[in-house]
Amino acid sequence: MSDAVLVLGATSAIARAAASAFAEKGHSLYLAGRDTDELQRIASDLEIRHQVEVKFGQFDAEKYREHSQFLQRAVREMDGLEGVLVAFGDVGHHQKAMEDFEEEEKIINRNFTGACSIIHQCANYFSKKRSGFIIGISSVAGDRGRQSNYIYGSAKGAFALYLQGLRNRLYPQGVRVLTIKPGFVDTPMTFGKPGLFLVASPEYVGRKIVKALSKSSDVVYLPGFWRYIMMVINSIPECIFKRLKL
Ligand SMILES: NC(=O)c1ccc[n+]([C@@H]2O[C@H](COP(=O)([O-])OP(=O)(O)OC[C@H]3O[C@@H](n4cnc5c(N)ncnc54)[C@H](OP(=O)(O)O)[C@@H]3O)[C@@H](O)[C@H]2O)c1
Repeated sequence: MSDAVLVLGATSAIARAAASAFAEKGHSLYLAGRDTDELQRIASDLEIRHQVEVKFGQFDAEKYREHSQFLQRAVREMDGLEGVLVAFGDVGHHQKAMEDFEEEEKIINRNFTGACSIIHQCANYFSKKRSGFIIGISSVAGDRGRQSNYIYGSAKGAFALYLQGLRNRLYPQGVRVLTIKPGFVDTPMTFGKPGLFLVASPEYVGRKIVKALSKSSDVVYLPGFWRYIMMVINSIPECIFKRLKL
């Protein structure tokens, strides 16, 4: 049986770290993303360092119509898949998105609709196989809407809810659905952004994602203390929260 893991958005800093941790455990990999030159570089590096088979292919989260064929190709090339990590995402430009719906739509599609489209295909593949795993990277930003990032936050929140329903659907088929909610991580996505605190490294988050698979949790905050921070934030009554500048 194939042990291959499909990594979607494989040029992401978090995904690279997770791919490296999967390779370290001996998994073969299929790296997918928009920048095939960069994918080739990452694939060669992983093959040399970990002596595992690494293939790659072009994938754009917004090209929904290509997703079915894309998955078939990845499955064929790897002779089956054991699991998938959905890591792509885009925080976009919130200010611009409040004025221009095209930017808002892009943020929603890159974080939610695109993820649903490819996971739809993956879910049916793993469901038929009656085994496998689907890991989706949501965000603590999806736990409560804030004026400074509610568009990205709502897409990530919707994604977490989608994964929750899918977990419920696929549990009887023996397919694991794992939701990852990172706090702030030091990646190109957050580079230069003001107001960051308790920033984790992508290496730490990537390693922990792979480690979480061997535990029984369904929703994992990374680092773990974000679960408690979000409990506090979620406990603030809405009549007070709406007055805060967050
Ligand atoms: N960094 C944080 O603080 C943080 C916190 C919570 C959650 N997250 C989530 O963690 C995940 C990984 O992000 P990161 O921090 O590692 O950021 P990153 O290094 O900026 O990576 C973002 C990735 O998304 C890919 N992507 C964007 N739009 C795409 C599209 N239409 N089709 C395919 N791929 C697309 C990018 O591909 P290209 O190389 O082609 O641009 C890139 O690989 C994301 O889902 C993000 O929302 C991040």
